[in-house]
Order: sequence, then structure tokens, then C-alpha cells
Amino acid sequence: MKIAVIHGPNLNLLGIREPSVYGKKTLKEINDQLFNKALVLGCDIEFFQSNSEGEIVDYIQLLKERGFDGLIINAAAYTHTSVAIRDALLAINIPFIEVHISNIFKRESFRHKSYLSDIAVGVISGLGYMGYEYAFDFLVKALKRGEIR
Ligand code: DQA
Repeated sequence: MKIAVIHGPNLNLLGIREPSVYGKKTLKEINDQLFNKALVLGCDIEFFQSNSEGEIVDYIQLLKERGFDGLIINAAAYTHTSVAIRDALLAINIPFIEVHISNIFKRESFRHKSYLSDIAVGVISGLGYMGYEYAFDFLVKALKRGEIR
């Protein structure tokens, strides 16, 4: 089983970026925790972070032919703006979970709109870094049981 984790713009700054909103864990710490979970569960995991919309689209486009089964994406600010990322996800048609560290519905109204939520298997928002872990657990279990595809 192969799972990809995509982190959008400014998430490379986790740990120093608005810690009261996004917590103190760095992106590396979050990725390391997921990597360890993947080892235990016996699946492959790949991480990708970019501040560029086009790079994220290019990465998504190749996931199908590279044999990925599932995807976790925090598209960060592009969540609220990017038809291009939405279209790339529709094109590859791989089940994905949308994750946000903060609760986007508690925040400015421009963050309440997501171009991804209605095509996601599910959305986790506001559970901090643990949202990634819950998303990962769910994806692996649901894929193994054939409950999503
Ligand atoms: C975010 C929420 C977005 O609104 C914001 O632009 C981000 C991070 C989150 O994880 O809470 O960069 O996706």
C-alpha cells in the first residue's frame, strides 16, 4: 500500500509559524511520526511539500501512474482558492482525506470555503498535528478493508 502526504504553502514553516494557531511541531516532526506509523502498519509513505500551486498539481498528476492508493492533503491556503488542485485530484481519482491543523470554520470567513471538501472522502480540521495521524489510520484501514477506493 502506498500513501502520499501533500503539504501546501507555508507549512514548511510549521513550528515557527503562528504557533498559537498551528502548534509547535515542525513539519519534519509530523512527517517522522507518520513515517513511523507507516513502518508499523507496513505501508509505503511519501511526503511532498511545496509553496507552488503548479508543483503540487504536477505531483498529484503522477500519483496514479506511480501506483499510489491514497492521499492525505493539507493544501493550506490553496484549499480556499485552487480549482487547479481540485481538478488534478478529480483527474487521478485516488481517495483522499483533507486535513487542516486549525479549525478553518472558527477562523476568517474566506477560510470556510474549500475547493476540495466535497470531493474528499472526509475532512479533519482543528485537531492539530494529530489530524494527520487520524487521517492516516483511517486511510490505511479503509483501503485494506476495501471500503474506499
Ligand atoms: C491550514 C488552514 C489554511 O486556511 C491556511 O491557509 C493554512 C493552514 C491549516 O492547516 O489549518 O496555511 O490549512
